[in-house]
Amino acid sequence: MARSDEKAHIEHLIAEMTLEEKVGQLTMLSGELVQTGPAAAPVTSEAIREGRVGSLLNLWGAERVREVQRHAVEGSRLKIPLFFCLDVLYGLRTFFPIPFGESCAFDVELWERTARVAAQECAVEGIDLNFSPMIDVARDPRWGRTVEGPGEDAFLAARFAEAKVRGFQISDLAADGVVAATAKHLAAYGAVQAGREYAPVDMSERQLHEVYLPPFRAAVRAGVAAIMPAFTDFNGIPMTANAAILRDVVRREWGFSGVMISDYSAIAELITHGVAEDKAQAAALALDAGVDIDMMGHDTYFEGLPRALDRGLVKLETIDAAVRRVLQLKGKLGLFEDPYRRCGSPSAIAATAAQGKRRDLAREAACRSFVLLKNERDALPLSDGQGAIAVMGPLVDAKGDARVAVEMTETLAKPVAVLEGLRSALPNARIAFTPGCTVERIEAAERSRARELARESDLVVLCLGETMAMSGEAGSRGHPGLPPAQCELARTVLAQRKPVVILLFSGRPLVLPEWLVEKADALVAAWFPGSEAGRAIGDVLTGRFNPTGRLSMSWPVDVGQIPIFFGARPTGRPAAASDHYTSKYLDMPNEPRFAFGHGLSYSRFELSGLRLDRTELRSGQTVAISVDVANHGPLAGEETVLLFIRDQVSSVTRPLLELKGFQKISLAPAQGGTIRFIISAEDLTFLDPDLAPQLEAGGFDILVGQSADRNKMLSTQIELIA
Ligand code: GLC
Repeated sequence: MARSDEKAHIEHLIAEMTLEEKVGQLTMLSGELVQTGPAAAPVTSEAIREGRVGSLLNLWGAERVREVQRHAVEGSRLKIPLFFCLDVLYGLRTFFPIPFGESCAFDVELWERTARVAAQECAVEGIDLNFSPMIDVARDPRWGRTVEGPGEDAFLAARFAEAKVRGFQISDLAADGVVAATAKHLAAYGAVQAGREYAPVDMSERQLHEVYLPPFRAAVRAGVAAIMPAFTDFNGIPMTANAAILRDVVRREWGFSGVMISDYSAIAELITHGVAEDKAQAAALALDAGVDIDMMGHDTYFEGLPRALDRGLVKLETIDAAVRRVLQLKGKLGLFEDPYRRCGSPSAIAATAAQGKRRDLAREAACRSFVLLKNERDALPLSDGQGAIAVMGPLVDAKGDARVAVEMTETLAKPVAVLEGLRSALPNARIAFTPGCTVERIEAAERSRARELARESDLVVLCLGETMAMSGEAGSRGHPGLPPAQCELARTVLAQRKPVVILLFSGRPLVLPEWLVEKADALVAAWFPGSEAGRAIGDVLTGRFNPTGRLSMSWPVDVGQIPIFFGARPTGRPAAASDHYTSKYLDMPNEPRFAFGHGLSYSRFELSGLRLDRTELRSGQTVAISVDVANHGPLAGEETVLLFIRDQVSSVTRPLLELKGFQKISLAPAQGGTIRFIISAEDLTFLDPDLAPQLEAGGFDILVGQSADRNKMLSTQIELIA
């Protein structure tokens, strides 16, 4: 259908629709195959035929969707197709690492490739719109949804957002293998008070605009089709009703013309927040803020908007504008032309789900997500001649995402567990293991079996951490570390004085005991690695894949340091051990256990020769920043170099470090190369006292390093000339 015909078709539908049919289009109900919110009655075919629903979530599968869509396109009065949505953050049938783990790859091209594959799998299984990417900056590991996002830094999160939108959508939503992406949860959800899920958020407008909005702006610039506001209260105005941000900034200032979908029952929850006394007022607040669709809101739009109209709380034209955006999305998705376009045939599904290249990509993505936190006494890489290896701990059979609907696990190509992966990686090693105890409870008998096995072995691989159920939505933890039972097991094993490699599975940075970090010979952050968990771990532990991952979020020494992040503002009294009256704790260090960007390799890279192609920069100009990298290690490897700036003097205080770039370089042993960054004067823009973007003359430090540890950086300066 040509765009002009489609426009006319949409206007004709709006003219034909009753008010009930209009608010029906603004209602999203759950098919409840996969539960992602408070349990509720699933949608009925009557509701669809009567036009009381415009889209569904949590119902997928080509045949199921075809059957349900038929009720809409054949059984309803105006035959308007539904669109179908699901949360697919790390793959549908092929599981990639969780987004937080994937962000540690610092690899834009990888982020796009995995999104592309996920979109292809969705687009034959009836899914039109994906509630992904989640791009909430997180600086508090207590918050469970850290697992879904890209870490602590706005620049990295923005690049992640762009890559995911490109991967899911390409450029034409009606093309094959494409789904609509949703940037969520706008905004600052990661800054909930005390890291407690759904808690209020209170921060300066400056922090909102400097840190939490930029990834969403990047997603909008990349053409994201939908945005989902956060559940949370923001400075006294719940985001779902926050017209100043959703309408005035996102829609008017940024020009976002896509669809805004509330989070699950979030419009109804405006009553619980205490800003609306009933459904009519809640509906009016959300609609005026720009929220088009009420997701599982107990019919807050369906019942509340007609009442709000009667009470003069909303205008019909505002309702029509929302309906128009929803119908435009359906048009862009190609659903008017072919409502069943994403209900693939069995052969198409089989071809798409063919695991070959996908599993290779899942394996590569998992390898790239792992972060080698520590490696001493040549503990890693392992070799076949390693002798007897003991694999133990509650996550010895850790695999993909344990929290999936039963139906999906039956059809998923089975995830590969750690033990299986290690066995295939080290066929000649004698690998014994203790049966998987649970993450929270490890009996004395299991500990003593582990002690005996460690004594009989030459090396121990100890698998510790969290299960998926210990993070994610509603997964905040006041002590984001290892449960006591695991610490006891680790103490027992480490006391046997054998080399110990600890694999840490988690959805967040973990607060680790000092003694564990000290005594372990090697530490690997493995996150939740996806379908190829075991094979990827075998690849990295044996050196088949030389680890390249870098932390996208600082690891605290203690909960008392939280929030801890590299982009903090200066203090007038920087910490000085020699001076009592300076910014520090009496009982712990200021520095994190592991800094943003930390990550070791089996190679040994050295940076040198930082240089600029100019010493002064004017608006409209760019500067080339070059640094030499040498591989002094025994293995070929890939080095990631981070580029930071520090604005020396400006009219508002600037962060001690601002990330402005990251690049990788692959080098053979004894090989050298050069990395070249190009930044523009406009990249040095900041928000002035009135929060207006500003270029201010003055000196800037230019720094490159392997992490945000300032003590290990090369630096030079440049002068910005007004
Ligand atoms: C959940 C989440 C959101 C998800 C939605 C639908 O509550 O907050 O991220 O997309 O509901 O599952």
